[in-house]
Amino acid sequence: MSILTVETTPFDDQKPGTSGLRKKTKVFMGDHYLENFVQAIFDGIGGVTGKRLVVGGDGRFYNDKAVKIILRMAAANGAARVIVGQGGLLSTPAASHLIRLNKTDGGIILSASHNPGGENEDFGIKYNTANGGPAPEGVTDAIFAKTKSMSSYKIWDGEAPDLDALGDSHLGDMVVTVVDPVSDYADLMETLFDFGAIRGLFADNFTMRFDAMCAITGPYAIEVLENRLGAAKGTVVHGTPLPDFGGMHPDPNPTWAHELMDEMFSEDGPDFGAASDGDGDRNMIVGHNVYVSPSDSLALIAAHAKNAPGYKDGLPGVARSMPTSAAVDRVARALGIPCFETPTGWKFFGNLMDAGKVALCGEESFGTGSDHVREKDGLWAVLMWLNIIAATGKGVGELLRAHFKEFGRNYYSRHDYEAVESDKAQAAYQKLRADLAALSGTTYGDLNVAQADEFGYTDPVDGSVSNAQGLRVMFEGGSRFVLRMSGTGTSGATLRLYLERYEDDPDQLDLDPQDALAPIISAAEQIVGFAATLGRAKPDVIT
Ligand code: G1P
Ligand code: ZN
Repeated sequence: MSILTVETTPFDDQKPGTSGLRKKTKVFMGDHYLENFVQAIFDGIGGVTGKRLVVGGDGRFYNDKAVKIILRMAAANGAARVIVGQGGLLSTPAASHLIRLNKTDGGIILSASHNPGGENEDFGIKYNTANGGPAPEGVTDAIFAKTKSMSSYKIWDGEAPDLDALGDSHLGDMVVTVVDPVSDYADLMETLFDFGAIRGLFADNFTMRFDAMCAITGPYAIEVLENRLGAAKGTVVHGTPLPDFGGMHPDPNPTWAHELMDEMFSEDGPDFGAASDGDGDRNMIVGHNVYVSPSDSLALIAAHAKNAPGYKDGLPGVARSMPTSAAVDRVARALGIPCFETPTGWKFFGNLMDAGKVALCGEESFGTGSDHVREKDGLWAVLMWLNIIAATGKGVGELLRAHFKEFGRNYYSRHDYEAVESDKAQAAYQKLRADLAALSGTTYGDLNVAQADEFGYTDPVDGSVSNAQGLRVMFEGGSRFVLRMSGTGTSGATLRLYLERYEDDPDQLDLDPQDALAPIISAAEQIVGFAATLGRAKPDVIT
């Protein structure tokens, strides 16, 4: 057996997006495509000689083959050890935890997150650094630069070991350690939450449904909720990860998790419901007859985190992505802690957490998490809610109503225009961008534009600057809309319109969000002209 050096030529489309490189699975399966990118990762981080890595993915189609290719390439590039989840499986938060727990130099995670999986759907790959978090832009830029001049890659000429057998084996000089993907993560959860209290809740006939959407969280949720916390067997549905997610679109929002929504809004629905995405980092929280928006979930967790043992001393600060609603800002003000506003993408929270400035972070896109890992964490959010419910003795609806009464309500919604022809999406985006300067002081119905700008971010820890992170139109009184181009789509362009309105009139706290936001939706239409520019009468997905 020996190291093969395979000649190749660069691909011009390997620029990592919001969360790594995502393409159609068949693109990754094409000759040299995955291999080029993996070599670019290795070269972009200064080589892997003598380094230790974690590798795993969400089990979607091609996961197993890709893991084996990466192992053979790591061996050929001189890595010392690779820790792999059994069967090549690891949820994204569990991978982040394993990197931190074993103090490895980094890790490679295979996933296209909430995008559908299968031979004709999506695949993805990303690199996480030694802190367990997604590589910051400096690193992804270096990787991208390497993809542009790729002329050869190294791969071990021999079979990768059996990924189903736990324990150590060798691939050349490299040690491959196959670990149980669930147990270390489940142990970590036990250190953060009051498992005794949550067990008491379930013993008291509290009912729950967790929809794993045939994706990676199934085994984690079964182990934690059913085995360790005593939730009834069958609490976790769609709990077996499948290469095509059983045809489900594993995006935990009311549109794609409609089976769960139907159950939660049925007469005999359970007390508590939750869903997670393809790679286990997203979450959706639902009570019986009540849906919790991700921005409200973040704010409520901030207000109640002290109930969980891992957070009993309070939070040093919180952070949210710019398009996420300002509900959490109000809680931070009340708690007297800082609230940071970052660009979209979990990678921007890493420095803040490493510096101890924040312990809780969230995005409107169903992402919540803390400094226990450096990824968002779906099951973590679910356990935090269960802990809060157990500690306060209040249900989801009761908690939410009390929260709105105390802090007011940030009505919120996101309208997505998906797979739009790129030139049309660009036209709409660039039109608003060009109009920004002239918008201040203009009026739409009762709404006066107070400020309009393009969001840019200077990282308070390392001073790095990230410009062009979305367009904001802010109205007097705290309402606003934000327009962004998605950085995770794989066909055409996806435009995201984020809408927000603050309300503290006690009689106005229970409106339908779309009704509450109607004036802002109409202002956005007047200002951007979606219908005319995109040729779409309405958005494809509303969350
Ligand atoms: C989307 C979400 C963003 C999230 C990312 C990865 O990115 O909007 O909040 O961090 O997926 O899960 P986008 O497609 O908007 O670039
Ligand atoms: Zn995800």
